[in-house]
Amino acid sequence: MYRGVLVGAGGFGGVWARQFLPHFRDRVDIVGVADIEAGARDRAALALGVPEEQRYDSYERMLAEVEADICFLVIPPAARTGAVRAAAGRGMAILCEKPIAASWEQTLEIGEIARAAGIKFAIMQNYREQSRIRALKRVLQRPELRKINLIESRFAVNYTIDTAGGAFRHQIPDAFIYEGAEHHLDQIRNLTGVDADWVQGHQWGQSWSTFGGSTTLALLIRMSNGVMVTYEMNHVERGPQNGWHSEYYRINTEGGTVVLDADDVIRIVQDTTGGEVVDEVTPVPDAHDEHYALIGQFLDWMDGGAAPFNVFEDNVRTMALTFAAVEATHTGERVDVGALLASSRL
Ligand SMILES: NC(=O)c1ccc[n+]([C@@H]2O[C@H](COP(=O)([O-])OP(=O)(O)OC[C@H]3O[C@@H](n4cnc5c(N)ncnc54)[C@H](O)[C@@H]3O)[C@@H](O)[C@H]2O)c1
Repeated sequence: MYRGVLVGAGGFGGVWARQFLPHFRDRVDIVGVADIEAGARDRAALALGVPEEQRYDSYERMLAEVEADICFLVIPPAARTGAVRAAAGRGMAILCEKPIAASWEQTLEIGEIARAAGIKFAIMQNYREQSRIRALKRVLQRPELRKINLIESRFAVNYTIDTAGGAFRHQIPDAFIYEGAEHHLDQIRNLTGVDADWVQGHQWGQSWSTFGGSTTLALLIRMSNGVMVTYEMNHVERGPQNGWHSEYYRINTEGGTVVLDADDVIRIVQDTTGGEVVDEVTPVPDAHDEHYALIGQFLDWMDGGAAPFNVFEDNVRTMALTFAAVEATHTGERVDVGALLASSRL
């Protein structure tokens, strides 16, 4: 039985408190909750059965006073470095919500803190552990499909600044890339099995959107195995919707094209007598994938099992692509992701 603390009990921290962590109550006892906002803190603590004296308005005080094995970090990325330093200073393992940080420099600093302390550190990259994605990866293994040529990927939703969720994030420059598109950039690494070579792209807004800033992002990415990827993120899509958990992937391979759309059906299309769907796969939904799967894997690691895929050393590669994409949209230049990783001496 491990002792856990939760830092951050806001919009998504509340979901951790009500759904994810209670599912593991036979493996983790939550012994402290910290949030600067009293209402969020109390709601989460009540859901977890954490008494008043173990609720903190300061994570520094909680992490200094409470004896715990694991720190679950669900505060915004810009606030994270201090919390990682405090938890690592007490030797706690850390399971951290994505993204690692709000900048490339902070990402490397957090990696350095975790490495120096010798703690277990992993990032919640839940979109890899969806049944629709696991099934898609199995289809891509079919020998007749052979090599991937290109991938078209798309996230598109009809949002306004009020319905987008976490509206404040949309006022922070680039946050929609490093908090949002980051999920899909990690998925592209997952589907291709390799890192990115370079990225170029553009972000923009529209006079008819309510966001004020950029709502739309278009990227062109070359992966290190030569696969070319186009990526679209559109928050003002008034047509076909590919929202969270329903993203569109069209994977063109040597032996045919595999399409996963919002209906979750994987269609394998081949140019037989005019482009026919030759097979369809309907993934079996799993109510306990995503966060449940990754928390379980993290606890297995704590128990002495193998390290999960989402350790810092892997996820920093997604961060390199993410912050290279940010830079590419600022400069209009192609950004060398490999060089960024190499310069960080990882
Ligand atoms: N993996 C996913 O699918 C997924 C989904 C949603 C959010 N997230 C991630 O979860 C994290 C939190 O997002 P959210 O939507 O809950 O944000 P939020 O703003 O709703 O909640 C953040 C909470 O952190 C608290 N907080 C901020 N600074 C703090 C500090 N210094 N000390 C203590 N508490 C502090 C705030 O009071 C707030 O309650 C982000 O990294 C986000 O990207 C992940």
